[in-house]
Amino acid sequence: MSEGVLRRYREFLEITARTPMITMGEGSTPLVRSRYLEKAWGVGELYFKLEGCNPTGSFKDRGMVMAVAKAMEMGSTAIMCASTGNTSASAAAYGAYCGLTTIVLVPRGDVASGKMAQAMAYGPKIMVVDSTFDQALKMVRAFAAKHPVTLVNSVNPYRLEGQKTAAFEVVDDLGDAPDYLFIPVGNAGNITAYWKGFREYSDVGRAKRRPKMMGFQAEGAAPIVRGEPVLEPRTVASAIKIGNPASWKEALVARDESGGIIGAVSDEEILTAYRLLASKEGVFGEPASAASVAGVMKLSKGGVDFSRAQVVCVITGTGLKDPDLASQQTDTPLQRLPPEMEALERALEEVLRGSGARSRPSTGSG
Ligand code: F0G
Repeated sequence: MSEGVLRRYREFLEITARTPMITMGEGSTPLVRSRYLEKAWGVGELYFKLEGCNPTGSFKDRGMVMAVAKAMEMGSTAIMCASTGNTSASAAAYGAYCGLTTIVLVPRGDVASGKMAQAMAYGPKIMVVDSTFDQALKMVRAFAAKHPVTLVNSVNPYRLEGQKTAAFEVVDDLGDAPDYLFIPVGNAGNITAYWKGFREYSDVGRAKRRPKMMGFQAEGAAPIVRGEPVLEPRTVASAIKIGNPASWKEALVARDESGGIIGAVSDEEILTAYRLLASKEGVFGEPASAASVAGVMKLSKGGVDFSRAQVVCVITGTGLKDPDLASQQTDTPLQRLPPEMEALERALEEVLRGSGARSRPSTGSG
């Protein structure tokens, strides 16, 4: 059976004898070394933390398992959240796994189709609100304060407790904290959670240093960068289309204590990074995830010297979450082919020549 984050990091979490040690196999995600962009951008060492490998395809599962376990420990039978898609999919999955009633509010028109289909499959109560994510979050906060449901947005402190385990894993894999941690910022829970994780690990001596936290928002949804809420956030990266982040102050603390920055990248930069990540590295992340990679691209092209630095980019969710955008963003042609070997050979003549492949020596066995 999978270990899960509750068991793997129980000494750093608020686990009691009554906490149900549930797991759907979250955590222990791959840290993959770049083979192309690292050289292209002159980075000493560049790694991708593949959070899309979690059970529901995003980092949310780390926090959700902790929030749901604590909700059950406290006798709650219903959980609730507002979401740009991934939190709702994760809540609905863990809710289904644990037999809880799950209620999710999503902003109309702002949730990628893969996340919507996924959330619906788990069978929660889904409400589509004619508003932004920020307004939906306000509504669930007010509702949960008044009714017997557990709020599982990242304002629930157990969510961040669970999510901090990703920072532990980065240190466990690299042997120490990296120099820089690049991460997309939406509601700002995850940057807060990573910073907490890095701090706790260095406090107990498991890491000798702490990274600079490099958070990136989308330009059209960059309240922290602008210093004021954005009433009508706009970005192709729907997961981080957030105008008034709940963990705003905590994100500033992470930035300032670590000596990092919170910057903005344009949709064009996000999409360039998104395409490069998939086509040059084989890593298919969702657009919001590409904001972290776009951050490295923007800074390195802008002259920041990363040549001696160890850099980790958090790829927060899988590209499968947003199949419509994926199809729009590719220029890979689909070629029709009659079902005949000769046609296949004709069609691939150019391709093989282009790849530098040599003709196959005969094996003699036919
Ligand atoms: N990347 C992805 C794929 C996300 O789904 C989110 C947030 C973020 C980055 C930003 O993380 O909010 O902690 O700063 N998604 C939330 C949701 C808002 O409802 O699924 P954050």
